[in-house]
Amino acid sequence: MKKILVTGAGAMGSGIAYLVARYLTAAEVYLCDPSKEQLERAVENFRKWDIKDSLKENCEPKKIADNVKYLTSVRELPDSSIDLMIEAASENLEIKKKIFIEYDRLASAEALISSNTSSLPLTQLAQLISINKRPNVLGLHFFNPPRVMQLIEIITTPDTSAVALQRARELATQLGKTSVVCKDSPGFITSRLGIVLLNEAIFALQEGLATAEEIDTAIKLGYNHPMGPLKLADFIGLDVVFAVTQTLYENFQDPKYRPSILLRKMVEAGHLGRKTGRGFFTYDKSE
Ligand SMILES: NC(=O)c1ccc[n+]([C@@H]2O[C@H](COP(=O)([O-])OP(=O)(O)OC[C@H]3O[C@@H](n4cnc5c(N)ncnc54)[C@H](O)[C@@H]3O)[C@@H](O)[C@H]2O)c1
Repeated sequence: MKKILVTGAGAMGSGIAYLVARYLTAAEVYLCDPSKEQLERAVENFRKWDIKDSLKENCEPKKIADNVKYLTSVRELPDSSIDLMIEAASENLEIKKKIFIEYDRLASAEALISSNTSSLPLTQLAQLISINKRPNVLGLHFFNPPRVMQLIEIITTPDTSAVALQRARELATQLGKTSVVCKDSPGFITSRLGIVLLNEAIFALQEGLATAEEIDTAIKLGYNHPMGPLKLADFIGLDVVFAVTQTLYENFQDPKYRPSILLRKMVEAGHLGRKTGRGFFTYDKSE
């Protein structure tokens, strides 16, 4: 893979661009986001992570921040020039559809075309890619933060080829991750199961069952989870949690996925968790 494009420079896109730049050293890596602020934040994080990881690996910093190319639009990139695209923009189907239309133009004949969506239908996104390139569309669902989390959930559509799946598995191994494979279905394995716990914890808080600290401590120590569900929701981003809950609810028509009013209100108020400094807990924004 000579040229790799990561779209979206938020928590996930910046983490994924860093990973591919660190481990696929022969590739040219592009990171695209319309927000210059987000790109600048990514550069700052790359410098921090590079120092941390190089200390761990006992090597010189790999200058990841200088090796990635930053774009506010993919318009300048020539047709058929990209070999791997990983879409990691906001969890919104319309935004992702527009990006996939661009991907169809940018993808080389053998390109792997992927999305990091947590819940949205890969099969619908694949329909925006020309028929000959469609077998190469799949989901590459990384976890937050991508540098640290060990899993990549690979999502296949009815058209994904065995060759593309094998290439995705090899890519996960090259990035030092373990992969699991799942068919395209709302929320796949991880969001479908995980969101039920997160949403129920928010309902419990809304009902006044216990404080946020007590709910999180109960699940952490009682079930041996490394992080409580409310802190995890803050960490993921409450806008992302809300979007995923809505997708599951709309698709399965099952009330167990209905988002709580408290979650909706937190999102409307702009209290999105760690990224805005306030969610169910408060955070230093520079963390
Ligand atoms: N946060 C998590 O824990 C987590 C985990 C796994 C997967 N995901 C998925 O990853 C994706 C991104 O989530 P995030 O947490 O990084 O969100 P985020 O809010 O941190 O970042 C989203 C980024 O997308 C950018 N963006 C919006 N429109 C764009 C466009 N047209 N082109 C390029 N960039 C655009 C925004 O400027 C922003 O920088 C979502 O699909 C989400 O469901 C999130």
